[in-house]
Amino acid sequence: MKSGWIIENHRDMQDLGVSESIFNVANGYVGVRGNFEEGYEGDEPTVRGTYINAFYDITPMLYGESAYGFPDTQQKLVNVMDVQDVTIHIGEEKFSLFTGTVVSGRRYLDMREGKYVRLVHWISPQGKEVEISFTRMASLTTLELFTIDIEVTRINCQDEVTITSGVNGDVSNYTNAKDPRVASGHAKLLDMKNIEVFDETSLQIVLETNTSKLQVAATTVHQTTPAVNGELIKGEKSVMVRYAFPAGKDIVQFTKFNVFTDTRRHEDPAAHGRELMALVLTQGIQAAYMAQEVYLQHFWEIANIEIQGDEVLEQGLRYNVYQLLQSVGKDKYSNIAAKGLSGEGYEGHYFWDTEIYILPFFILCQPELAKQLLRYRYTILGEAKKRALELGHKKGAAYAWRTITGEECSGYFPAGTAQYHINGDIAYTYIQYYLATGDKDFIAEFGAEVVFETARTWMELGHYHEGLFKIDDVTGPDEYTAIVNNNYYTNVLAKYNLEWAASWYKQLAETHPGAWEALCSRIGLTTDEITAFEEAAAKMYLPFDEKLNIHAQDDSFLAKKVWDFENTSEEKHPLLLHYHPLHIYRHQVLKQADTVLAHFLLEDGISTDVLRNSYDYYEKLTTHDSSLSCAIYSIMASKLGYSDKAYDYFIETARMDLDNTHGNTKDGLHMANMGGTWMSIVYGFSGVRIKDDHLALNPSLPKQWKGYTFTMRYRQATITVEVNHLKTQLIVDAQELIHIKVMEKSFKIPMGKTIITV
Ligand code: BGC
Repeated sequence: MKSGWIIENHRDMQDLGVSESIFNVANGYVGVRGNFEEGYEGDEPTVRGTYINAFYDITPMLYGESAYGFPDTQQKLVNVMDVQDVTIHIGEEKFSLFTGTVVSGRRYLDMREGKYVRLVHWISPQGKEVEISFTRMASLTTLELFTIDIEVTRINCQDEVTITSGVNGDVSNYTNAKDPRVASGHAKLLDMKNIEVFDETSLQIVLETNTSKLQVAATTVHQTTPAVNGELIKGEKSVMVRYAFPAGKDIVQFTKFNVFTDTRRHEDPAAHGRELMALVLTQGIQAAYMAQEVYLQHFWEIANIEIQGDEVLEQGLRYNVYQLLQSVGKDKYSNIAAKGLSGEGYEGHYFWDTEIYILPFFILCQPELAKQLLRYRYTILGEAKKRALELGHKKGAAYAWRTITGEECSGYFPAGTAQYHINGDIAYTYIQYYLATGDKDFIAEFGAEVVFETARTWMELGHYHEGLFKIDDVTGPDEYTAIVNNNYYTNVLAKYNLEWAASWYKQLAETHPGAWEALCSRIGLTTDEITAFEEAAAKMYLPFDEKLNIHAQDDSFLAKKVWDFENTSEEKHPLLLHYHPLHIYRHQVLKQADTVLAHFLLEDGISTDVLRNSYDYYEKLTTHDSSLSCAIYSIMASKLGYSDKAYDYFIETARMDLDNTHGNTKDGLHMANMGGTWMSIVYGFSGVRIKDDHLALNPSLPKQWKGYTFTMRYRQATITVEVNHLKTQLIVDAQELIHIKVMEKSFKIPMGKTIITV
């Protein structure tokens, strides 16, 4: 794999907060920001953070004026104990990148080996020269394990080297009252529960959250070469271990093993942490590195995308895909937070981002992980049903706009709870998973129930008016327009949800009669209800403007005043930080793709003219103030043959965090956009769509490239797609007969290996 590294030179170290996010090391369970072990000097803006996916505390949600059904608490991802602390002294002098001379210094993320490495060649103020390497790994095979490996090479000195390692339980969350995308209060969320020292190399700290009363344990063990005894200093909230390596020429090696465990996953986290640590130590660090590499080899076999002719973009793309893997929750408690495990922006909450922007990658590249993400939604179905009742519905499920364990954590309902489309997004994605994998058992066990319950909510929410089924007072994906009647995106997804609920009801009666009967009787689903679903779907009102020949975003959107873009300077973006919401809502202005997104997700039966006119119309009004926008405009530009736009939007997505184009990468990486980059290639340039009975492709090649290659899974087949100026070639290894259409040409592909050239 080319460009497997993301590199930063310490000499152009400017924005440390951004680099901390970019160089986060995570595995979907634990995530550690790329802080320097030895810390900084002065008051550089930094967020020193370690997070455990779905490990949260509960904080009060404060309103000046509250109303019925407003959530009174919210969940918040907790910054847990800091195991990153390591300081190094050469003789009396403390190693720091801010003193002495940095002859060379760089760090990189090795995405093949799954390691972060920082290499520094440093001369101390008194002229002592050393090379130091720091290697970090969050294990993808033992999710609880995070390691730091340090090597100090004495170059022109033989002084004593002292390494002091700390585990600090006195930690806080980051807050910023001025930015709605970051938490505004409640920094201190953890109390010390237990601090234990086992011997001079190993220790354990257990912390407990203030309100949710969850516990997290960090078990830490140190190893050194040459072996030296540690000197341990136990404080009230932290432990320090000091290793003095005698003067001499030897290279000094130091490894810090950290195992995190928590009460959400482990019955007795302290005991479990110790057991797991014993196991890790019997295998050793080299075995852990090896396992990491093997895991990633398998991952890249499918996930790798090559772009011939643009290494920088290729690197951006790989980085984004790698981050998706680093962030994805791998158990039923967790999902992918909007910022992954790279920062505290959006407080570790899960949004619709997962379904519409991230799951497409997992469905086509890592279906087992996709299943895990979908299963998470099933796990929180009970909470969604409770919320539906709270919102005044008699039945159904209303998934929280943002959440960790299923409870609504959005305090601003016009751009939160009102986004009922999340129900449709979840249903849509279960259907996509099914169409891509054919995994009907999973649908019988989990998917059907979710799709039935979300379908019920549309029936509760909508009503008949002049013979059409209408849905009032919702907010679509575009958060610059709120509480509207008949948002096209919402209605079209609701229609699809209702249709598939009816279809699965009938299919499962045939294919899984036992499970079907049990489910219907458990949730009281009847054939009459299904008939009502079918009727509402058939009569769903989809707003359309005859004059413009476009789908109207909602009933009132096209009658509003157009935003004065000409007189809005760059500094006024994102608008949400500079204008009152009401002012924004009164205008035709979009934060992100809305109708255009609906056209991407559900394109069948819509004429190219309507797709094109709608794109042209809404594009002019879209600020892309949300990072979820550009990818969709890139995909639809590809569909419509706007190749330059497709390329330009793609570039925006590919390096958004590496180049900090939204200016807030310090708060964490934009995970949805990262999925969007992959989609811009697979769904955009190569035009992949998962249809009811086939996989469709419609490849195009940006003129800037010589070609591109990617691999995906479809119905147990592995398909490698190669596109260049001369041809498109598909190498298919199928396990059953599958149907693929390439540029409308139909191919029935038998079991075994087949090559298609178009
Ligand atoms: C977007 C939402 C998104 C959220 C989290 C907001 O800025 O408008 O669509 O779900 O960010 O990424």
